[in-house]
Amino acid sequence: MNRGVAVWQGRVYVGSTDGWLHSIDATTGRRVWKVDTLVDRDRRRPYTISGAPQVAGDVVVIGNGGADFGVRGYVSAYDLATGALRWRFYTVPHDPRTGPQEQAHLERALATWDRDAAWSFGGGGTVWDGMAYDPALDLLYIGTGNASPYDWHERSPRDGDNLYLASIVAIHARTGEMAWYYQQVPRPPAVVSAPMPQPPALVATPAEIARGAVLYNRFCGRCHFFGRAVLPDLRRMTPATHALFADIVLRGAFAAKGMGRFDDVLSAADVQALHAYIVSEAQRAYTAEQQAVTMGGGAAR
Ligand code: HEC
Repeated sequence: MNRGVAVWQGRVYVGSTDGWLHSIDATTGRRVWKVDTLVDRDRRRPYTISGAPQVAGDVVVIGNGGADFGVRGYVSAYDLATGALRWRFYTVPHDPRTGPQEQAHLERALATWDRDAAWSFGGGGTVWDGMAYDPALDLLYIGTGNASPYDWHERSPRDGDNLYLASIVAIHARTGEMAWYYQQVPRPPAVVSAPMPQPPALVATPAEIARGAVLYNRFCGRCHFFGRAVLPDLRRMTPATHALFADIVLRGAFAAKGMGRFDDVLSAADVQALHAYIVSEAQRAYTAEQQAVTMGGGAAR
């Protein structure tokens, strides 16, 4: 998916899904430069670009997506002529124990995050499209997206607005410094709040469950995360969905909702192993949740 390009003074700027930004000569179609916009590429963070770049003064700015899967939001500004990185603006702080923040606005934001926040999930706040630039003020406007993980119980348990998630942020285009922000949703809330349904009984050998885990990570995990994603957490399936499991995975029963069928790569036995693995994970989570409730843990997850 690609949401658009920027066209400016004979050049076309376009981001590619794999995280590169390209500058292309609009007349000849020849590439002028390309840059790798992803931090942590070697750590295989699930960043992608689907949004349109924004020209702002003499830089072109690009963000990315991935907050649903665990990344830290930022935008990068590149010199229009050369593609050299001019500044990078992170939208949320990093774990303060790993060193000082990159910019002053992040030091200020730290007070709105739990020190023991789930930093390894990146915090989210990606800027995946819809930037604007005001040349009179030389201000770039960005909108920051959802949190990662979604649920503040997991993300930042002890209070805080978690700046600059779900915000409009104005940035001085020349320097990359923050001008102002407005947070539309302070401390973005939990998306999943219903208690976990009781999973069915598990009838499987440890070897079958282990094989299911391998298949799950290979074919399902990139869309169905446990605990922190837009797509269903399969541990939370209802009894009706459990009953339909093989029909969904092999015969496309949920094709209308966008769930593909896997009968070209998975056998009926594979699907049984997958189901066994998901049920075993569901039972583990369900038991933990019940114990948390018994111990008076309040919101259990
Ligand atoms: C490319 C993304 C993607 C992959 C990979 C994927 N799914 Fe799905 N799955 C979906 C979507 C989209 C839905 C429908 C979501 C909705 O109902 O909103 C879905 C729904 C489901 C549901 C119904 C869940 C419910 O509670 O309603 C099951 C079961 C399911 N998938 C199983 C699997 C299994 C098993 C695998 C691995 C073999 C898998 N999926 C791989 C995208 C994916």
